[in-house]
Amino acid sequence: MPVQIIVGAQWGDEGKGKIIDYLSEHADLVARYQGGANAGHTVAIGGERYVLHLIPSGILHPHTTCYLGNGVVIDPVALLQEIELLTKKDIVLKGRLFISHRAHLVMPYHKLLDQSRELADEQHKIGTTGRGIGPAYVDKVHRMGIRIVDLLDETTLREKIIHNLEEKNAILSALYGQSPLEAEAILHEYRELDEQLDPYITDVSRALHLGIASGKSVLCEGAQGTLLDIDLGTYPYVTSSSPTSGGACTGLGLGPTQIDRVLGVIKAYTTRVGMGPLPTEISPESGIDLRTLGAEYGATTGRPRRCGWFDAVVANYAVQVNGIAAWAVTKLDVLDTLAEIKICVAYRYRGKEIKTFPADLAMLEQCEPVYETLPGWQESTAAVRTFNALPARAQQYLRMLTEITQTPIEIISVGPNREQTIFC
Ligand code: IMP
Repeated sequence: MPVQIIVGAQWGDEGKGKIIDYLSEHADLVARYQGGANAGHTVAIGGERYVLHLIPSGILHPHTTCYLGNGVVIDPVALLQEIELLTKKDIVLKGRLFISHRAHLVMPYHKLLDQSRELADEQHKIGTTGRGIGPAYVDKVHRMGIRIVDLLDETTLREKIIHNLEEKNAILSALYGQSPLEAEAILHEYRELDEQLDPYITDVSRALHLGIASGKSVLCEGAQGTLLDIDLGTYPYVTSSSPTSGGACTGLGLGPTQIDRVLGVIKAYTTRVGMGPLPTEISPESGIDLRTLGAEYGATTGRPRRCGWFDAVVANYAVQVNGIAAWAVTKLDVLDTLAEIKICVAYRYRGKEIKTFPADLAMLEQCEPVYETLPGWQESTAAVRTFNALPARAQQYLRMLTEITQTPIEIISVGPNREQTIFC
């Protein structure tokens, strides 16, 4: 498939890292289009476990070239740490990893503002990752962000940092009691970081255009998920970028006519981290502990994830807003031991059944899930490699997901390792 977008269909953590790694075997270029070091993509290869925050997991295949597009916000400190970590594991990055010169930078004051805001207002906190993502995107939209291209010129960089600090220091000290940050210290730090980043910087949009024109296949990698999208998610409990498929065009500098297909990644159940509604959340009293079964702890922050049953209202909404052509269903094996498995097929709101995903969070909070219950298969799927070899009840569960979302399943993941993957 020449140009394919890989999009999370829930609240992030769907297992996109593993799916991107799996698909990268047959891809030439892998390009991340939004988010920043808030993401955490975990990939297990052999005995090794790689947790990537910024660099696309396609980098783990030596033949790929990977890109961070203009829609990504780059924390140079986090990126260089990741580069160092991969280099130590003998993964070559020079000549294989490129960063858009138009991407915005996450600055020290963004991280401080993010963390201070979350601590200061318990009532309105979002439960962010504290990586400075929201404040960095605020500055981008406010037209006072600092971009990778600005690192090249010391005079411009100094002027922009001073201009930003006039505002940020006033907020940090007046609202959060923080000491002011020094412009020269930040300038010095970022100029040094730039020296290390320099070999990786390029015009990503142009590189992708040239690649597509010469017949290369491209995977466009979304971070987070549909319900965390700034426009289409459970606002305000969202991230500050566009994880939905439309974000791939603006975040990479590609036109919609260059995209061939969208693959949705969806867990066989649902999770979310942070605040905000999760209609199918399973209460601790139920005795069903998907968090332990699925090791559901954040790859970036280590926070426990909230867990719930598969929500077909969410899945259908994701199909609608992303144009999803097929599913990759992940973590099916996590359900292996359960006696019964529920699927939310609709919501009940004030006595009426609804199947559309509400925009109003107060309404969503009052929605009760309408479940269909299926018998569990209660046998291990971890070693299964074909659809037909799956237990009959697991096949029944997957067929129901296909029917209810009117979308075929193309890939099924039954464990964290590369080989624990079924291509249907
Ligand atoms: P931020 O992206 O750090 O601003 O956090 C905003 C919301 O998005 C919070 O609820 C986070 O928990 C959530 N979030 C951000 N990145 C991820 C991710 O990679 N997976 C799951 N949730 C995420």
